[in-house]
Amino acid sequence: MATWLVTGANRGIGLGLARALGARGDAVIAGVRDPASAGALRALGARVEVVPLDVADARSVAAAAAAVGGRPIDVLVNNAGVYGPKRQGAFDLDPDAFLATLAVNSVGPFRVLQAFRRNLGRGAKVVTISSTMGSFERGGAGYAAYRASKAAVNRAVAATAGELAGHGIVSVVMHPGWVRTDMGGAGADLSVEESATGILRTIDGLGAADAGRFFEWDGRRAPW
Ligand SMILES: NC(=O)c1ccc[n+]([C@@H]2O[C@H](COP(=O)([O-])OP(=O)(O)OC[C@H]3O[C@@H](n4cnc5c(N)ncnc54)[C@H](OP(=O)(O)O)[C@@H]3O)[C@@H](O)[C@H]2O)c1
Repeated sequence: MATWLVTGANRGIGLGLARALGARGDAVIAGVRDPASAGALRALGARVEVVPLDVADARSVAAAAAAVGGRPIDVLVNNAGVYGPKRQGAFDLDPDAFLATLAVNSVGPFRVLQAFRRNLGRGAKVVTISSTMGSFERGGAGYAAYRASKAAVNRAVAATAGELAGHGIVSVVMHPGWVRTDMGGAGADLSVEESATGILRTIDGLGAADAGRFFEWDGRRAPW
């Protein structure tokens, strides 16, 4: 039985991951911004433990790490994410909302990684859920705050993966596919279950040689 920490676990892909992990007998520390919204998680049973965790709030992240204590974590999934403000054009992207998007999507994974550093031993995996909307190779326009936040986290993970590899930790970024969640919308390609199943299979298969890579949900390499 492995222990997983999943952020943003109360709905969407995070909830799908917690559900699939609980079903296969793994232990899940499920980080949620608002514990009052964690009814679906609590219904998953004793293997899934709900911990208040706002990845953009230093005090919340520190309190979550204190609540977890010294328990080893095998896999950290930085899943929490926001799409950012409604308007993201050159002239109407609100700078403060841009910064708030970066705080969750780009900086949040590093707040969590640092707070849980002593829980992550040799052999641990750190998987940051990103998006090919941040891909320079794929291109695309619009959604500037979201795209920039994912490009930033991609680059930051790639820049630190070698350092983490030195500690025996494999760190990667992953695109979950276009998924039918509140963020992805009803017309997206994949169900939450399909995405979560593929993500878990891909994470299970990660080895030391994968450090710093960018994966699609189904294990293919994603374009930077
Ligand atoms: N769905 C897609 O098609 C798609 C495609 C590419 C990438 N992604 C990425 O996949 C991840 C999950 O997306 P999703 O589709 O499941 O989105 P979602 O349905 O909108 O859910 C987002 C989750 O992140 C949580 N969250 C937001 N800000 C947070 C914060 N500051 N601290 C902690 N949790 C926070 C939300 O909690 P609250 O309920 O409290 O708001 C919610 O649980 C995100 O990183 C997203 O960028 C999704």
